[in-house]
Amino acid sequence: MKATISHIKADIGSLPGHTTVYAPVEEEVRKFVSDNSRGLLTGFHVGHVGDDIQITMVHSRGIDNPEVHGLAWNAFKAGTEVAKKVGLYGAGQDLLKDAFSGNIKGMGPGVAEMEITSRKSEPFIVYMMDKTEPGAFNFPIFKMFADPFNTPGLVIDPNMHDGFRFEVWDVLEGRKIELPSPENTYDILAMIGSKSRYVIKRVYTKEAHEKLPDENVAVVTTDKLSLIAGEYVGKDDPAAIVRIQSGLPASGESLEAFAHPFLVSGWMRGSFNGPLMPVGIKDSKMTRFDGPPRVAALGFVLKDGKLAGPVDLFDDVAFDGARRTAIEMTDHLRRMGPFEPHRLPESDMEYTTLPKVLSRLSSRFTPIEGHIKAETLEEPTRDMD
Ligand code: 13P
Ligand code: 13P
Ligand code: MG
Ligand code: MG
Repeated sequence: MKATISHIKADIGSLPGHTTVYAPVEEEVRKFVSDNSRGLLTGFHVGHVGDDIQITMVHSRGIDNPEVHGLAWNAFKAGTEVAKKVGLYGAGQDLLKDAFSGNIKGMGPGVAEMEITSRKSEPFIVYMMDKTEPGAFNFPIFKMFADPFNTPGLVIDPNMHDGFRFEVWDVLEGRKIELPSPENTYDILAMIGSKSRYVIKRVYTKEAHEKLPDENVAVVTTDKLSLIAGEYVGKDDPAAIVRIQSGLPASGESLEAFAHPFLVSGWMRGSFNGPLMPVGIKDSKMTRFDGPPRVAALGFVLKDGKLAGPVDLFDDVAFDGARRTAIEMTDHLRRMGPFEPHRLPESDMEYTTLPKVLSRLSSRFTPIEGHIKAETLEEPTRDMD
């Protein structure tokens, strides 16, 4: 049986700065979806991580469905009205366009959707991050589906032994490429290490997969707010849907990818590198330096279009060590103040407010006599022997 899982998320205002959602706003979004989903959705869950409201929906209409997208858009609009009434900061922040015209893509909210052939038991995890960008998923998704040191199933389980196919998007050039792993592992890594440009969009099983051939098994939101708005309006705060078990990474193999905090870009003013801290929903309040960036994970199972769950998976003492490490990394990095590599490199600051500050100084610069400018430097001639 075919089913579609659509996860759509947006920041429509937060309290007091970019810390967390305001409960009545989240409640309004939940009520709107509940009141307007009859005949459209077979299951849904509304929640939040940090200041982003997250809607997980199940239906049978396939991806890019105008009614499903419209329901999420209108629910966010309804929530924004409540946010405006109480004066929440950044009310309607991610709703970048006015008129909805059939697809929420390119309008601000993040979208991750996949149409699947439901298995007898269809377990999946929705990962939600705050204060970071879509490329933050490159490292953990690669680990789940391509790194046997994280996922021993790639070695042990005959159904996983052939590996997976990765669809990688170049979000700056607007092009994509599909590469199989393990055959092209090094090529995949050559791209996805540049996480502000190359992002893993989807992972598929291969044709030869015995239980689930040629199926989409992971999808990530790749919407970049700054590319839509042309300026900094907040970070993209991505989400992902990852199917698990039975020839796919086990629940614990998927979660294990977050056990050692790694650096992601975002955090304060979308301008800093910081550790990604795995937390339960109750701890997804972005306090210290508007962070540190966090990831929460909700576990569901799907049967006949109905959802059971969620389980708040990082709300577990087993991840206390990861949280401690993330806090130590935070203490260490914060001492660097506005310096790279805590602050992002200049190329990644293009859409922030830093260029405005620098442009004010431009008239005060004078040339350095005899200095060769970078763009006029010639390629050095090297003896290749
Ligand atoms: P399955 O192959 O049934 O998914 O079991 C793997 C597992 O859960 C081991 O932890
Ligand atoms: P959000 O992208 O979560 O709204 O955060 C914006 C910000 O500037 C935090 O300092
Ligand atoms: Mg915000
Ligand atoms: Mg946010």
